[in-house]
Amino acid sequence: MCGIVGYIGTEDAKEILLKGLEKLEYRGYDSAGIAVRNGEDVRVYKEKGRIAELRKMVDDSFDTTTGIGHTRWATHGVPNRENSHPHQSESGRFTLVHNGVIENYEQLREAYLTGVTFKSDTDTEIIVQLVEHFSKEGLDTEAAFVEVLKLLHGSYALGLLDTENPDVIYVAKNKSPLLVGLGDGFNVIASDAMAMLQVTDTYTELHDGEIVLITKENIEIKDLEGNVITREPYKAEIDASDIEKGTYAHYMLKEIHEQPAVMRRIIQKYQDDKGNLTIDKDIVKAAREADRVYIVACGTSYHAGLVGKEYLEKWAGIPTEVHVASEFVYNMPLLSKKPLFIFISQSGETADSRAVLVAVKELGYPALTITNVPGSTLSREADHTLILHAGPEIAVASTKAYTAQIAVLAIFAQVVAADAGVKTEIDLLPELAKVTSAITTIVDDAKLMEDIASKYLSTTRNAFFIGRTMDFYVGLEGALKLKEISYIQAEGFAGGELKHGTIALIEDGVPVIALATQESVNLSIRGNVKEVVARGALPCIISMRGLEKEGDAYVIPAVHEMLSPLVSVVTLQLISYYAALHRGADVDKPRNLAKSVTVE
Ligand code: G6P
Repeated sequence: MCGIVGYIGTEDAKEILLKGLEKLEYRGYDSAGIAVRNGEDVRVYKEKGRIAELRKMVDDSFDTTTGIGHTRWATHGVPNRENSHPHQSESGRFTLVHNGVIENYEQLREAYLTGVTFKSDTDTEIIVQLVEHFSKEGLDTEAAFVEVLKLLHGSYALGLLDTENPDVIYVAKNKSPLLVGLGDGFNVIASDAMAMLQVTDTYTELHDGEIVLITKENIEIKDLEGNVITREPYKAEIDASDIEKGTYAHYMLKEIHEQPAVMRRIIQKYQDDKGNLTIDKDIVKAAREADRVYIVACGTSYHAGLVGKEYLEKWAGIPTEVHVASEFVYNMPLLSKKPLFIFISQSGETADSRAVLVAVKELGYPALTITNVPGSTLSREADHTLILHAGPEIAVASTKAYTAQIAVLAIFAQVVAADAGVKTEIDLLPELAKVTSAITTIVDDAKLMEDIASKYLSTTRNAFFIGRTMDFYVGLEGALKLKEISYIQAEGFAGGELKHGTIALIEDGVPVIALATQESVNLSIRGNVKEVVARGALPCIISMRGLEKEGDAYVIPAVHEMLSPLVSVVTLQLISYYAALHRGADVDKPRNLAKSVTVE
């Protein structure tokens, strides 16, 4: 979703900003822009479409060492040049980039800006026009900025330039992510550390309700009352090679292939000196004290939560519910007496999940975040965090984060069970090792998945995924993967449910991808396949060694059936990848999607 970068220093700001925006591309965007200044001369370049287009517009000869940049994912107003950021005030004195949504922008326009001519349909333009409004009333820029911030309802990360104070970038944050990066003779801002890793690995967190005055030599953080805040910087632990594609054609393919390494890393990170699985004692205590767990998440993370529920209930014996965050926040179920909330979020920034976390904290309940990003908003604001250790995930469609989430949930449930003295049906460590080698087998068989994609998905308009129990959850994720990147309309169903309505859509040649990795339901899912075949469907069965039958499209290596989601999903990730590739889709940056959804 929208991304922000800014630079003030001595080097060519244009190039640093454009490179920074390229690193934010993965978040999803539909237009981009930069504003760069030389003294009072501020140039704005912005355009609908990719950064590559923006790059062509920028005047190489313009000498500049300060600027702000933005990738926009449209919320207010269609994606076009006018609505792209940066936005300028009527006189051109102030220039602004914004990530977030201002809820009361219409009221503010009526209250303060009736005489102003607007150039865009965005909520953002209100902010920059308001800064000019208050500065015309006599406030200095910092005071005008603070005055505006006090009026805004909603979420924002902001970077502001003022031609009359050209040596400062004014910055503020509320709910939307933003970091300040520190350098020698320069400073930067960025929505995430990856964007500016090209110039610095040292960052300072910003908290909601803070403003920062950034010059090339200094940063000054204050609250809205003007109190100066000091905060220690930290080193971003990201290896630059983690955010490059290497020899892979796409980030998604690279990330699918990284899954065995991620499994090994998770096993190692969650093991103590004696080789036993371990989780922070306080987190185990919080789970032991809970009478019910509420898992809250969105998208792929929600699907991982469904699998995690099985572990928490079957191994740790804790009743568990899984909820979609955007619904939970407006329609909270009747809660148990001692709930524990678990937020699963790859990015740790998803606004829908955060809205629930804020509500839960107000009610005084304990919260655990399971995320890939240490220091992310959901991690900072929850009582506890478990890190996924999956490494940066750049492709919009989540792959290695999903399997990492399931592995961490499995370890968590096992450790809680062990703490309670419960002997579970599974010896997790050796079973996870088997999973790791099974995933390796599948990525080595990528060519077979490509053949499956060609056979079943090269021309179809729609596809169905069916499975029972654990396979049902994986089917939901498989369908999401396929629709996200190939634009084939794909739906996941519980094997027994398809016939209660949706079977009406089955006609000659419609692919039905069935998962058959669970012994107890193997016969019934195969019965469901027969039902759709009788109506003309093209069946594609992914089964598991020991349960296979002649004609199955692919047989995954045998693993413990509670862990089969970690393995079977990899086949579906690869099949989706090749289906999208064959159909000419932009695999890593699918249309309309954002990686980090920072608006509700
Ligand atoms: C977006 C992404 C999905 C992701 C979901 C939740 O919709 O496109 O891939 O699963 O957000 O993101 P989170 O970072 O909270 O896991």
